[in-house]
Amino acid sequence: MRKPIIAGNWKMNKTAKEAVAFAEAVKNKIPSNDKVDSVIGSPALFLQGLTEAAKGTELQISAQNCYFENAGAFTGENSPEAIADLGVDYVIIGHSERRQYFHETDEDINKKAKAIIDNGMTPIVCCGETLEQREGGETEEWISGQISAALKGLTAEQVANLVLAYEPIWAIGTGKSSSAEIANETCGVVRQTVAKDFGQETADKVRIQYGGSVKPENIKEYMAEENIDGALVGGASLQPDSFLALLEAVK
Ligand code: G3P
Repeated sequence: MRKPIIAGNWKMNKTAKEAVAFAEAVKNKIPSNDKVDSVIGSPALFLQGLTEAAKGTELQISAQNCYFENAGAFTGENSPEAIADLGVDYVIIGHSERRQYFHETDEDINKKAKAIIDNGMTPIVCCGETLEQREGGETEEWISGQISAALKGLTAEQVANLVLAYEPIWAIGTGKSSSAEIANETCGVVRQTVAKDFGQETADKVRIQYGGSVKPENIKEYMAEENIDGALVGGASLQPDSFLALLEAVK
């Protein structure tokens, strides 16, 4: 039985004060980690305030990106070591917005995944196809290629313990969520790729999230599907009430 994981991805929203106010509002209402992993993915600037506010509670914190080196002349970047030192648990990598606007490549994502694991955190590795690719019948090959490339060189045990997120680009922030059936089918492609590269046992253990216009009203439909173990949520994770409602729906 895979434990559900709900992760909010705040993207580039909130100020430091708003971030801490959110954590204060939700931290004592988070369901037990025995039932669900409850994560907030924040801009790097607020990670320290959030880990301090969340200390001793069930709220877990994620970064939205990091570099793959731990130190050096990389102006503007944040090292995985420095992020881990703040008490951060997860790092989201390979989000389609980072691939599209910041030119993150499969190779970068693979290096980041290794660096995040080496620094004791858990990567949340995203994949997803465009509408054009879906309509052109390329989804399976594309998703499988992204997953294989991101996980290349990791051990089966490392893969079993990370988190994968399938986010169809056409469903992100559009209000146009994928049907639960399509989401499950494509999360199934992600799982089959892990089985092919790392064995069935690893594929049975790895947790796969669906992301794209998930909200409290539709999360149960996704969670009822065999291959979906959680959600990566943008807009509906920004308000405490809505974030808590997502957790309540799956616990
Ligand atoms: O990473 C989460 C995301 O891209 C989905 O965003 O706003 O459609 O839930 P949203």
